[in-house]
Amino acid sequence: MGVNPEKVPQITLNTGVKVPCIGMGTFGSDRFTPEQVSNAVAGAIRAGYRMFDCAACYGNEDQIGEVFETAFKEGVCERKDMFIMTKVWNDMHRHVEESCRKSIEDLKCDYIDLFFIHWPFPNYHAPGCSVDSRNPDSRPFSVAEFMDTYRQCEELVRKGLIKHIGLSNMTIPKLNAVIDKFEIQPAACEMEIHPCFQQQELFDYLVAHNIQPVAFMPLGSPQRPERDIVATDIADMQLPEFRAIAEAHGCHPAIIALKWAVQRGQIPIPFSIHEMEYVSNLESTITEPLTDEEMAVIATLEKDNRLVKGQVFLWEGAKDWHDLWDEDGYIVDCPDAK
Ligand SMILES: NC(=O)c1ccc[n+]([C@@H]2O[C@H](COP(=O)([O-])OP(=O)(O)OC[C@H]3O[C@@H](n4cnc5c(N)ncnc54)[C@H](OP(=O)(O)O)[C@@H]3O)[C@@H](O)[C@H]2O)c1
Repeated sequence: MGVNPEKVPQITLNTGVKVPCIGMGTFGSDRFTPEQVSNAVAGAIRAGYRMFDCAACYGNEDQIGEVFETAFKEGVCERKDMFIMTKVWNDMHRHVEESCRKSIEDLKCDYIDLFFIHWPFPNYHAPGCSVDSRNPDSRPFSVAEFMDTYRQCEELVRKGLIKHIGLSNMTIPKLNAVIDKFEIQPAACEMEIHPCFQQQELFDYLVAHNIQPVAFMPLGSPQRPERDIVATDIADMQLPEFRAIAEAHGCHPAIIALKWAVQRGQIPIPFSIHEMEYVSNLESTITEPLTDEEMAVIATLEKDNRLVKGQVFLWEGAKDWHDLWDEDGYIVDCPDAK
């Protein structure tokens, strides 16, 4: 059961490196233990996944690293054929190399293929804290602080610890403030994308700058923690238009969301610990594509349905979570934007 990794379509990054068009998420959140997640990673490697989205703050890199080590030792795959992504968490922005070395040690992988700055500011909160909790040290995005973190990532490329730099949870105003300052171009940007939250403008901006969009929550994260759900959130896969397309293909709506993602050009990183689900998610990339008409219908489902609002990162004086996303076209409260 699974897919020959050589049959999974590939995407070429701005360095010329080819990567699979789909990866697997590893954020078990409050629901799954590190062991459950790492068992799923082991199964997913056997099933043909060659790209994994990890993060220091997911609290399971150690266990996932054991799975990688075993897979390399047993010859299931070679390190060079695996594309391992991880992220520096907000409390380590002044210690990026330390964070990167710890992830490499935990993931037992010699180097990181794509290293993301998880959030573009150093605002820290304890994992699993209530959305109403605020850290008094939190502050708005600063160009100088962000570039200091980015420069440390550039050093990691030069030292051979990472192959590519990635951005995450960015906005166009923030990108505009830093885009001409990079010495090493970012290869990818991880962002929330699902059918009811397509972020078309940001998507187009990234593509125009040769930065690959990587889509987190590609299924609309139907099982995200209660604390992250508000009454106005829409369940993407329950929409009648979406269910009708799934029925026409005889599959779960999740598979349609992934086909749409790959055909549109973002790399989805769906999460599941269930073998049937993660295998069918990978298989979605090699089975019957969506028609142009179906793609056009899904394009109309945009509903500005942002699920990761990021309230816990707000600084003193910020109005509400909208301030994090620069919706009026400028960086809110930024001390040093042009
Ligand atoms: N950069 C960032 O700030 C950031 C933020 C959030 C997430 N991420 C990354 O993105 C990954 C994915 O996000 P996510 O897990 O929140 O959302 P998601 O992938 O949209 O949704 C995951 C849920 O969808 C269900 N599912 C998966 N495959 C399915 C299938 N074939 N059929 C039916 N249901 C299916 C599973 O539910 P059941 O468990 O009930 O089966 C699973 O828990 C994370 O693991 C993480 O790596 C990054």
